Amino acid sequence: MGFHYNIWNVVKKGVYLKCINCGKEFEPQPYLFKCPKCSSLLEVIVPEPHLDWEKLSGRKPGVWKYRELLPIREDIEPVSLGEGGTPLVPLKRVVLRDTGRDYRIYAKFEGANPTGSFKDRGMTVGITLAKYLGFKGVIVASTGNTSASAAAYAARAGLECLVVLPRGKVARGKLSQAILHGARIVEVEGSFDNALEYVMEKIFGSSEHSYYPLNSLNPWRLEGQKTIAYEIVDELGRVPDYVVVPVGNAGNISAIWKGFKELYMFGYIDKLPRMIGVQAEGASPLANMWENKGKKPLFVDKPETIATAIRIGKPINWMKAVRAVIESNGMFLKVSDEEIIEALRKIARYEGIGVEPASATAYAGFLKLVEKETISIDEIGVLVLTGHALKDPDTINSL
Ligand code: F0G
Repeated sequence: MGFHYNIWNVVKKGVYLKCINCGKEFEPQPYLFKCPKCSSLLEVIVPEPHLDWEKLSGRKPGVWKYRELLPIREDIEPVSLGEGGTPLVPLKRVVLRDTGRDYRIYAKFEGANPTGSFKDRGMTVGITLAKYLGFKGVIVASTGNTSASAAAYAARAGLECLVVLPRGKVARGKLSQAILHGARIVEVEGSFDNALEYVMEKIFGSSEHSYYPLNSLNPWRLEGQKTIAYEIVDELGRVPDYVVVPVGNAGNISAIWKGFKELYMFGYIDKLPRMIGVQAEGASPLANMWENKGKKPLFVDKPETIATAIRIGKPINWMKAVRAVIESNGMFLKVSDEEIIEALRKIARYEGIGVEPASATAYAGFLKLVEKETISIDEIGVLVLTGHALKDPDTINSL
């Protein structure tokens, strides 16, 4: 490390890292992303807060409303753009039209975040950490949204931003955002998986650690994303029966599940939802594993789908996501590009909600659940609509 930092200047007392596989615990360290003992993923453990949930109701909505449950010290001014607090809207017309029945289903519209995707929730935490630890900049591999978000939050923090993207496979809106906010862009051949390999080699193959990696392997970033669960419970006033989440690198479904589990462990809720992960057919290592009743993902070498945000063959967080789905009694599903396009068009035309293709997998996945009869009419479901339609104008224009 070329500079000195004190993690306790940024991270709360009592926070530690824990291996999700062997359970070994570690002091917080910004560069510890895998367990030194068994190489599995790590998660951030936040101590039980002294917090009366009712007390929160007077606070402004958003990620930092839940400060007591986040790992960042409460005397730190976060790098924020007002992320979170996104609309939770009931879907009525489209559901009645498609199923002929009144399913109780809500959309959590993450496209309403400052840069148009849920990534902002993680980035406000990740960039705050990077800034106060004194890093010169941040680096991310991305299918697009992470790069747009990292670029904006880095700009706000006065940090440099380096983004590594799969050449020719990033939707135009996202690329424009990264350029607009002044990120330096490196393009690699292949898919996101190759971009992430590039970042990992650059970080771990070098002793020069001035760019902080903020991919979802970074457990601190996922802490921000867990607030999706908090907001759902806050707004519904109860726990939904199931939550449908598009899955790419598998960080978000893991983060949302962690959020629900924390609320349960701390005694704020008394049940947990089933987590349903949806992948696109041409990039479905987890859905294929599930179909084959396997225990390990069937990695895809050349993932392909119109939903470029989740065009990922080797999800780095697969172990966390599989655990979320198994523990919650949920499932993985896959949907075809045709189903994705149909779903995107329908929620736009019948509900007024414009999403990008990856997000539409949640609605396409819901229709599959209805078809499979795995949900009942009296259950409450939430679809996490991860990104805005304006992210991918070319696909929208070609409909
Ligand atoms: N939906 C959208 C719009 C996304 O951008 C992503 C991921 C996902 C769903 C899946 O989330 O990876 O946590 O399972 N986008 C990443 C990126 C990979 O680089 O922007 P995940």
